Amino acid sequence: MNVELRDVEQARSLLDQVVEETPLAHSRWLSTRAQVPVFLKCENLQRTGSFKIRGAYVRISRLSAAERSRGVVAASAGNHAQGVALAAQLLACKATIVMPDGAALPKVQATRGYGAQIEFAGAGVTEALLRAQEIAEQTGAVLIHPFDHEDVLVGQGTVGLEILEQLPDVGTIVVPLGGGGLAAGIALLRERRPDVRVVGVQAEDAAAYPGSLAQGRPVRGTMGPTMADGIAVAQPGLIPFEVIADRLDEVVTVSEESMSQALIGLLERAKMLVEPSGAAGVAALLERPEAFAGPVVSVLSGGNIDALVLLDVIRHGLAAAGRFMHLRVRFSDRPGALVRLLTDLAAMGVNVVDVAHDRSADSLGVREVEVAVEVATRGPEHRDEVREHLTSLGHQLM
Ligand SMILES: Cc1ncc(COP(=O)(O)O)c(C=O)c1O
Repeated sequence: MNVELRDVEQARSLLDQVVEETPLAHSRWLSTRAQVPVFLKCENLQRTGSFKIRGAYVRISRLSAAERSRGVVAASAGNHAQGVALAAQLLACKATIVMPDGAALPKVQATRGYGAQIEFAGAGVTEALLRAQEIAEQTGAVLIHPFDHEDVLVGQGTVGLEILEQLPDVGTIVVPLGGGGLAAGIALLRERRPDVRVVGVQAEDAAAYPGSLAQGRPVRGTMGPTMADGIAVAQPGLIPFEVIADRLDEVVTVSEESMSQALIGLLERAKMLVEPSGAAGVAALLERPEAFAGPVVSVLSGGNIDALVLLDVIRHGLAAAGRFMHLRVRFSDRPGALVRLLTDLAAMGVNVVDVAHDRSADSLGVREVEVAVEVATRGPEHRDEVREHLTSLGHQLM
């Protein structure tokens, strides 16, 4: 293995005047659930809104003057783009970022705001990466990989050093895991503190690490759709994989439901705005509150979330928590039928959020209507009660 904790310490002195030492916030909400003290390492409050500035800055600052004069290029839909753009600006180096067509507008604007030149290419990061490689070959610009480079890895690892200083008796660090730069960098602290457990967290529909660890080498995993775009990486990086195979204690996976509930919990209870990937560690705590030796630190790795995505995630999370329900009710088109439904809902203490009336669906008979009602409920039991009670009152739920 070519990287050691010493390298992380050197990276830390490079970053001294550049990155924020982000707060480590105690969470009463999660501590009560897990029955051990739980702390949040708030990299969502880092410059650029994620930890990515750490690795990007270390990598670019170590380029030779000749390399730096040719500029850097990177492919990313979000956090890495912003990290590279700001790091390059601080180091007076030209940056070109290739973003997929349709990348979220706030991320495009933020990246441009740090002075990077932006090009759009392809539907996803894989195609954008091909274009970035082409630019690197044509112009001599240095390609800044998001995770598969020693300098990036040790830069991200400085998060671990801060945690050790802020909470010397930490028992477990729970880290969102994509290509592996962040988790590998943090896991290097086990060289000095083998007693600290480090656990990586992936989204269950897009988890390449468990299969790769089982085979002993990075292999492609299946990538299903996930809201956690930052940790959905098809294949682990070779350099982080080696460190992770050697030093990480465990990789766990979490469901989309847990991530959306973690995100809502962090908003409501901890007053923290976090993106889905950044909430993966808290999702793992919600799924297995008793599984981790305390004190636990959950790394909130990023807070860059598009307001439109936030709306969707909140809706999803509230539905998963039984606090929001979508009902489709069919009735014959008689005056008063809708009023009766709404009155019955009101009698059960259900707040109606939205109503849509549909007479044109192909499946409807003549003089039949369907009403889609979105309601706020008080939890899973109340939600089930509402459905049962409406059925017992003769409403035809679809
Ligand atoms: C918010 C967030 N968390 C975690 C990760 C995963 O980092 P890594 O690829 O180093 O494992 C990313 C990567 O983009 C990210 O944006």
